[in-house]
Amino acid sequence: MALKFGGILGFDNGIVLAPMGPDVAGPKLVAAVANAGGIGLLASPSNNYDMTQKAITETKRLTSKPFGAGILLEFENTRTVQAIFDEKLACLQVYWGDYPKEMVDEAHKNGVKVLHQIGSIKEAEKAIAAGVDCIIAQGVEAGGHIIGTIGLIALLPRVVDVVGDKDIAVVAAGSITDPRCYVAALALGAKGVCLGTRFIASKEAYAHDYYKEQLLHYTEADTDRTDLYSRASWRAPVRCLNTPFHNQWKNAPESAENNDEQPIIGYSVIYGGETVLRRFAGQVPNPTTSGELENMVYYAGQGVGLVRDILPAAEIVQNFVDGAKKIIKEFNEKYNPPESVPAVPLTSS
Ligand SMILES: Cc1cc2nc3c(=O)[nH]c(=O)nc-3n(C[C@H](O)[C@H](O)[C@H](O)COP(=O)(O)O)c2cc1C
Repeated sequence: MALKFGGILGFDNGIVLAPMGPDVAGPKLVAAVANAGGIGLLASPSNNYDMTQKAITETKRLTSKPFGAGILLEFENTRTVQAIFDEKLACLQVYWGDYPKEMVDEAHKNGVKVLHQIGSIKEAEKAIAAGVDCIIAQGVEAGGHIIGTIGLIALLPRVVDVVGDKDIAVVAAGSITDPRCYVAALALGAKGVCLGTRFIASKEAYAHDYYKEQLLHYTEADTDRTDLYSRASWRAPVRCLNTPFHNQWKNAPESAENNDEQPIIGYSVIYGGETVLRRFAGQVPNPTTSGELENMVYYAGQGVGLVRDILPAAEIVQNFVDGAKKIIKEFNEKYNPPESVPAVPLTSS
């Protein structure tokens, strides 16, 4: 069978921008991905109608294409979701919890497709029962928060199998940083790929330049799965760069929390609010961040070793689409050659 690929969920292509918080996937990046035909997902402010609406309005100023937004189910987000419905976004991405059928139905009534990011078969089964439109299978090699413990190559085909012939697009997330990873995900049965780390190294990402530069210097051997950061508000595993700071503190006792006892290491403006960053804070630096940049957290997936340049987001999307086409064409030529031409009989001279 020949490998094929194309757009998903009504979008031109199957490239999804992960809704990277707190504000890395902001209006500029989301609009750039949307304009390139991908699925741009805004990172939403927590349970805040006005700030969510503001980010959506800003994005709409930069693109006339459809896009979506993500919410974390760990936190109350009714107001954020209301803004997403009122603004008639194309998609709502949900992560870190259950999103039952009544809520999926409510989204559908508002014309919003639901994408649920999961890290296990148990979660995938719940999402299928709830009637979601898309399941994002997140492998443990992913950057940022990681809900599961299973590698993508083991998880993804299992999710594809449990989805079976239902009309649910399966998307792969975790260390997808170049077109080869995209094709590998397609071969495992995914219809699309969700990229986080690769898009941080884009011109439009709302990340500090220092963060973007750091990504160019680390490899697959230099990330760590840890729960050292933001323990005071949300103790959960993340994957981050194993910076000298992280390496020094990664075995800190359980009691090491980013509470008032920790020294202040910097300041950020996040969704218009001045934020004090204490040691072990979970917020990655954005362009407004000042302070001890080298002592902050830098979320990244194991695929960081393939991130070698900071590009416009549209170029990243195009490289993925063109690169995958090329690989598939070469693959099909090699392994599915057209019916062999009947041998010309040798004539005796
Ligand atoms: C900086 C950063 C922030 C993230 N924040 C969120 C988030 O707020 N919500 C969410 O669903 N996923 C978040 N993720 C995880 C992504 O959805 C996705 O699973 C991950 O980026 C894929 O792995 P990759 O970074 O190796 O491409 C974040 C990832 C990164 C790198």
